[in-house]
Amino acid sequence: MNNDQIKKDYFKKIKLIQEYNKYYFDKNKPIVPDQEYDFLKKKIINLEKKYLFLKSNKSPTQSVGFKPSKNFKKTQHKVAMLSLGNAFNEEDLINFEKKILNFLSLENSSQVEYSAEPKIDGISASLFYKNGKFIKGLSRGDGKEGEDITKNLKTIKDIPKSISAKNFPVEIDIRGEIFIQNDDFEKINEKFANPRNAASGSLRQKDSAITKKIPLKFIAYTYGFEKGMKINTQSCFLKNLKSWGFKTNPFNKTIKGVKNLILHHRILEEKRKEIKFDIDGIVYKVNDFDLQKRLGFAANAPRWAIAHKFSAHSSISQILNVEIQIGRTGALTPVAKIKPVNIGGVMVSNATLHNEDEINRKDIRIGDTATIERAGDVIPHVISVDLKKRAKNSTKFIFPKICPSCGSNTVKDFNETTKKEDAVRRCTSEGYECEKIAIEKIKHFVSKEAFNIDGFGKKIVENFWKLNLVKLPQDIFNLDYKKIKVLEGWGELSVSNLKFSIEEKKKISLERFIYSLGIRHIGQENAKLLARHLKSLGNFLKLSINKDFSELSNIDGIGETQIKSIQNFFFNQTNLKVLSKLKEKLTVIDVTQVNDNGPLKNKTFMLTGKLDGISRAEAKSLIEQNSGKIISNVSKKLDFLIIGEKPTIKKVNNAKELNINVINQDEWMKILNKTS
Ligand code: IVH
Repeated sequence: MNNDQIKKDYFKKIKLIQEYNKYYFDKNKPIVPDQEYDFLKKKIINLEKKYLFLKSNKSPTQSVGFKPSKNFKKTQHKVAMLSLGNAFNEEDLINFEKKILNFLSLENSSQVEYSAEPKIDGISASLFYKNGKFIKGLSRGDGKEGEDITKNLKTIKDIPKSISAKNFPVEIDIRGEIFIQNDDFEKINEKFANPRNAASGSLRQKDSAITKKIPLKFIAYTYGFEKGMKINTQSCFLKNLKSWGFKTNPFNKTIKGVKNLILHHRILEEKRKEIKFDIDGIVYKVNDFDLQKRLGFAANAPRWAIAHKFSAHSSISQILNVEIQIGRTGALTPVAKIKPVNIGGVMVSNATLHNEDEINRKDIRIGDTATIERAGDVIPHVISVDLKKRAKNSTKFIFPKICPSCGSNTVKDFNETTKKEDAVRRCTSEGYECEKIAIEKIKHFVSKEAFNIDGFGKKIVENFWKLNLVKLPQDIFNLDYKKIKVLEGWGELSVSNLKFSIEEKKKISLERFIYSLGIRHIGQENAKLLARHLKSLGNFLKLSINKDFSELSNIDGIGETQIKSIQNFFFNQTNLKVLSKLKEKLTVIDVTQVNDNGPLKNKTFMLTGKLDGISRAEAKSLIEQNSGKIISNVSKKLDFLIIGEKPTIKKVNNAKELNINVINQDEWMKILNKTS
């Protein structure tokens, strides 16, 4: 057989196994006996081992083998299920605690106690109880909207169906992890790569009778929405969970101080092998619920919790090639194509090399034998290469100096803050002019945090680009559906679904809209700040007419780097064209304040000097929560200058000259109707 025939045969087998998967997982009606399935799977694996050019993301070595079932109803979480920030070492933890202390304006770390809980590597679920009865259970989904998997959850013994304890809240979402114990995993079949996939797969069976056969377990650790709960700390909440009949983690502990967190991490990492289920780190949560509330959330994760990961699994493999990927912001990222290797239950064939400097520092070359590491959901990366195993004729890897996609020059920016050259090399093209950048920009535009167009995945963006259907963001709202309908893999129903998803997203918040434009340095948090300040699309677009960006420096959190980047964005003609076309097609919703009826309504504030018992960040968030607005210059627009200890005298004098109210902390608290 020649290579083409081998490929043909391989893809035929992949197609067949997909068909088997569909019947097994989605329809719950296997069409072949297990042995036949396993035989086919083995053949595919052997082919991939023998011929390294064979690769498919549909291969059983790459995926669990099935798509999420469409059988479940999507339901909104009353309180979002957020993710956690990660810490990998002591420095990350020190920073985490420093931020907490700064935010809460605390000086002594001994004032903060943590609930340290092993992070189970399973699937999270949210169980809604009303009057002690288990009513509804949702999967995490995208955090905002999950799938209604109540029927399947009801088959799990660890989930209490009815709770009669007096202090059980009238309404509450109990949240925790569904998982399979390692010994149980070994007993079931080996169609799943690891226990986590097995838990996920069986939880999302259409037929709950099948879920029932799988020994799923549930450990509870937090809550979402609640009504009538009178508990002050996480450790107390965990105790109550136990008394209400939930299983909690036997290794939960309360701890003070980063040094003790590290010690505990080390001990638990040692014990990890003896624990009956997979844990991939420890979650530290500020124990006091009042402090948690004050700390609140930043973007997608709470400020009061972090996941301290265990060190990664690693394996040895060979670097077959180095490819250069081009990201949305033009960054050239080298990726090592490696001989596929199993790392902690997952087949890995790509590993990031980060940037040009990293390749030079580690002298990584094509053909080298390398150690590859994979930690949790983090992209696998090359740790080091074995110089002893290097071939004599090996040559240094030369990083391309021109963009492999569009041929433009590439540069390393000079970072004004660090006074150093960036490690990352970037394509200098203006954006949509470079094919690879343009495709990545469109992927970003439709992504979950941006326009969130259901079913418009990365593969579709790439395909539509190739077919000239989408070259710029506005093309998404002008699609030729007749053309799409006749494409392979598309039909009447899928086209009408796509049309529906796109139509649905034509109305969008200003914050999401700004984020979706993919302006460098403008992530979700900055997009939110800009939207809150500018209030309407009209004001945002005015920036391109007035070319006056100085007012943006009034926004707390937006610095010179961001302003420069916004300026560059508006100086680009293609961007202006994209904006004007999008404006025609979309309804961008103006920002109305979350609570626009608080006691500080229509009032502007500025802070100077150190406040007592409250940090700058918390003071600002308190003003905003009560409908006030923060500005960072003394001008006629300012209503109140709040002064703390050692204020900037110039600011105070300027304010007095302009007849602005200069108030101290107590006076401010009185306005807020609080006593300090
Ligand atoms: S608390 C906002 N506690 O880790 C706080 N999460 O990346 C959110 N997890 O999706 C979760 N053990 O699946 C929390 N003791 C624990 C946990 C835990 C495992 C998982 C959970 C979540 C992910 C966060």
